[in-house]
Amino acid sequence: MSAEPMQDTRPFEHVTRDPWWRDAVVYQVYLRSFADGNGDGIGDFPGLRARLPYLAELGVDAVWVTPHYVSGGADGGYDVVDFTAVDPDYGTVEDVRGLVEDAHALGLRVLLDIVPNHTSDQHPWFQRALADPDSPEAARYHFRPANEDGGDEPPNNWQSMFGGPAWSRTPDGRWYLHLFTPQQPDLDWRNPEVVADFDRTLRFWFDLGVDGFRVDVAYGLFKDPAYRDNPGIYSPTLFGHGPEQAMTTNQPEVHDIWRRWRALCDSYAEPRMLVGEVSLADLSEVGRYARPDELHHAFQFRLLKSDWDAASFADTIAEALTAFDAVGAPAPWVLGNHDKARQVTRYGSVRRARAAALLMLALPGSAYLYAGEELGLPEADVPVASRRDPIFFRSGGKRAGRDGCRIPMPWEASRPNAGFSAATPWLPQPAGWPGHAVDRQESDPDSTFTLYQQALMARRLHPALGSGRASVTRHGDVVRVDLVARDGEPGPVTCWVNMGSAPVTVAARTLLLASSPGVPGPVDGRLTLAADTAVWVSR
Ligand code: GLC
Ligand code: CA
Repeated sequence: MSAEPMQDTRPFEHVTRDPWWRDAVVYQVYLRSFADGNGDGIGDFPGLRARLPYLAELGVDAVWVTPHYVSGGADGGYDVVDFTAVDPDYGTVEDVRGLVEDAHALGLRVLLDIVPNHTSDQHPWFQRALADPDSPEAARYHFRPANEDGGDEPPNNWQSMFGGPAWSRTPDGRWYLHLFTPQQPDLDWRNPEVVADFDRTLRFWFDLGVDGFRVDVAYGLFKDPAYRDNPGIYSPTLFGHGPEQAMTTNQPEVHDIWRRWRALCDSYAEPRMLVGEVSLADLSEVGRYARPDELHHAFQFRLLKSDWDAASFADTIAEALTAFDAVGAPAPWVLGNHDKARQVTRYGSVRRARAAALLMLALPGSAYLYAGEELGLPEADVPVASRRDPIFFRSGGKRAGRDGCRIPMPWEASRPNAGFSAATPWLPQPAGWPGHAVDRQESDPDSTFTLYQQALMARRLHPALGSGRASVTRHGDVVRVDLVARDGEPGPVTCWVNMGSAPVTVAARTLLLASSPGVPGPVDGRLTLAADTAVWVSR
């Protein structure tokens, strides 16, 4: 970690960013908890629309909105009853059109969330399938006959990701497959009617001007056609599904669907984009979903699932860069989402969460932010009586579930319900919530909001940040990422992160940005980096 001679760093230059999605920063909105426009305690499209200027001010490129469809309400909107209708809680199709128009006027793109693996059990197809085992609708799901011996054993050992068997019985004794709750029957993607119907859904929203989709469970649409047992049991503490889930995930046919959807996206004059949830442990397998004619982005969740540990971060980043480079795709980085406890709580402090954010935002590729992480929100402790997440209930309370990261946003400290709604919010906000409010943070130069805003601005302007080439090394508890612009000019920038407990001295010529206030500037090409801090420096 010695100082090296450096040329003068040029002032930031604007980078041409084409296509836009390669290095985009996408902000995930949990629609029900973002902003309430009509005062019923539930976030909605008018509320989100009114807050778009906030997202432009923060400096993101796109918004991803969690499912907004008419839903059975069993899994936070991921159980869809009608893929071309808006849940009245959230507004109307016209509200979506208005959202897209306003977003585009602000230079923001809009991604919706599509759920192709399953429908709601309230979906007209499934209702018809229940009524008539010989209907074409029944052939769109995975039904297995009742056991001949009349026994209660499910057709195989497949488990629901939310706990318990992945099979439930219909009143007439048939079994149906649901990899999530029993209210989310899995579709059979070998049925061409299913394929054709989703083409129509994509077109419906694309024709409205929507810029793309986040694709739920993109690694799981196909299942073993012979319904053979899985070799093992999935553990939610792992980095993702592996060979133990060989019969229910990552079937080869799924790639044909992504090629089909990509061609559909590319048929628009302004091509639409897709980001898939690919929860596989093997990052080279994840990379295959992002080949040039498949998904634009394939989420890998290893970073999301890494503890505050230098080796884990450094190894994951290096492996992900290799896996996505191999297919010429940008790596999508994620530290938080609606399925995971918030960083502040997982890492143990807001200071660490801020350092991790600076590391992520330096990396080449796209970055996904989850609403509220720019405010440094902690995971909330949700009273049992207010819990909603099926994971909590299906695990008999053994797994905490995801309600704690889905609490309504704090906007204005002194307004009722921290400015989220005039009415009582659908999930209770903890007592400390107003202290995190946007209006407190916007004017505070040391706030987490300001840090994200500055980082996003620097990332937009400096060609080595977010879109350059990275090499990752680890020195004990210190992660070092060296970044150069693709054309080599200007730069380089180094991101140092001290994940240990003692201060370290690192090489630095100019301090560009620090994750914590009070980091002293470099002296004689060296800078002292306190524990749990990250910096962007030129060297
Ligand atoms: C994805 C979503 C999660 C949902 C599940 C079932 O993992 O991110 O929230 O519960 O799919 O649709
Ligand atoms: Ca509302």
